[in-house]
Amino acid sequence: MKAVLLLLLLLLTEASCRSHSSWCELGCDCRGDLKFTICSRGLFTQLPSRVPPYTELLDLSDNLISVIPERSFDKNRKLRVLLLQNNNISVVQHGGFSQLEFLQKLDLRWNRISVLTEGFSVGLSFLRELQLAHNRLRHLDSRSFLHLDALQRLNLSANSISSIQVRAFAPMSSLRQLHLQDNRLTSLRSGVFSMLRSLEVLNLAANQISDMEMGVFKPLTSMSLLNLADNNMTTVYFKTFLSIHTYSTHILLEENPWNCDCDLQRVFRKLRSIQRLFLDDYYNLTCQEPPVLRDYRLMDVDSELCLAETVTVLIITFTVVTTVLAAMLMGERKRKKKKRSTHWTQQGEHSEESDY
Ligand SMILES: *[C@@H]1O[C@H](CO)[C@@H](O)[C@H](O)[C@H]1NC(C)=O
Ligand SMILES: *[C@@H]1O[C@H](CO)[C@@H](O)[C@H](O)[C@H]1NC(C)=O
Ligand SMILES: *[C@@H]1O[C@H](CO)[C@@H](O)[C@H](O)[C@H]1NC(C)=O
Ligand SMILES: *[C@@H]1O[C@H](CO)[C@@H](O)[C@H](O)[C@H]1NC(C)=O
Repeated sequence: MKAVLLLLLLLLTEASCRSHSSWCELGCDCRGDLKFTICSRGLFTQLPSRVPPYTELLDLSDNLISVIPERSFDKNRKLRVLLLQNNNISVVQHGGFSQLEFLQKLDLRWNRISVLTEGFSVGLSFLRELQLAHNRLRHLDSRSFLHLDALQRLNLSANSISSIQVRAFAPMSSLRQLHLQDNRLTSLRSGVFSMLRSLEVLNLAANQISDMEMGVFKPLTSMSLLNLADNNMTTVYFKTFLSIHTYSTHILLEENPWNCDCDLQRVFRKLRSIQRLFLDDYYNLTCQEPPVLRDYRLMDVDSELCLAETVTVLIITFTVVTTVLAAMLMGERKRKKKKRSTHWTQQGEHSEESDY
């Protein structure tokens, strides 16, 4: 009896072992106890076909995968974390990530993705974090993030993004962090950040932004940090920041080529008086223009910027007042003269009348 049991046990373990090995691709480490499957640095040029169905974390980083075919993860619907950074991915076929309704984090950093088609996000409605830094994206449009309803963190830094269509981010109403630093943006149109009511962090540093439409930040009613450092701004409109209706927002503006004139000084004086806005690096802002002020800190010259203008205004006012006064005096004198002459004529007429 005992022997039979033992044999049965042996057979069972062997069977489970065999099934285990048949479900674990060579080059991967399958940890059923932790629900991990680690296939990083495995020289894979395509997705491994045998990933255990229990897998919740799949690490495929540091391989040579270049295509994500349609419905690639059909047999791995329990995935929560999918790591694909440092591959050679340029193509994600329509629905490549479909069926992944438990997936929370997708890491695609350091690949060669140049477009986000509608099919990219199909089935990613529960994704919370998407890392796309260091790819080749150039343009974002209204289809790029269509199905990412639950996304909270999106990192698009270090791409080549130069244009963003109005409402491109609109499907992601839960988004809390948007990292767009180190791209090629030159202007921000009103409407590009529409619907981002939950956005707390907007990082736009290290672009070439010189032009922002006045209402562009208005929809961002939860924004607590706006980073615009290291851009190409020479000046800024007061209303652009006044329209930020938040409880409190920190704004970073250093490393821009500020044109330190009286207008700029006025804008900053008004901005600094708004209680809910914090210009954290105001003391670090330096002038690029005019040439005599290059590399001076705005803070050190700001009391003088309007001085020249004030003097000019005073001179103009003085000139105008003097001219007007002179004109009035002349007018008055002429009037008196005329009055006197008519008086005399009338007197003459009278005397003529009296002659009769
Ligand atoms: C990466 O993908 C490109 C095509 O997108 C291909 O030309 C290149 O050979 C691939 N590199 C490697 C190392 O597989
Ligand atoms: C976004 O990606 C860049 C580049 O990899 C990285 O430096 C930065 O820390 C990331 N930020 C977040 C919040 O993930
Ligand atoms: C910065 O803006 C100026 C105009 O304000 C433009 O002439 C220049 O080309 C811009 N530089 C970059 C790097 O975009
Ligand atoms: C101002 O610049 C200095 C030196 O570059 C830096 O250490 C400091 O953190 C900056 N301050 C702010 C508020 O950014």
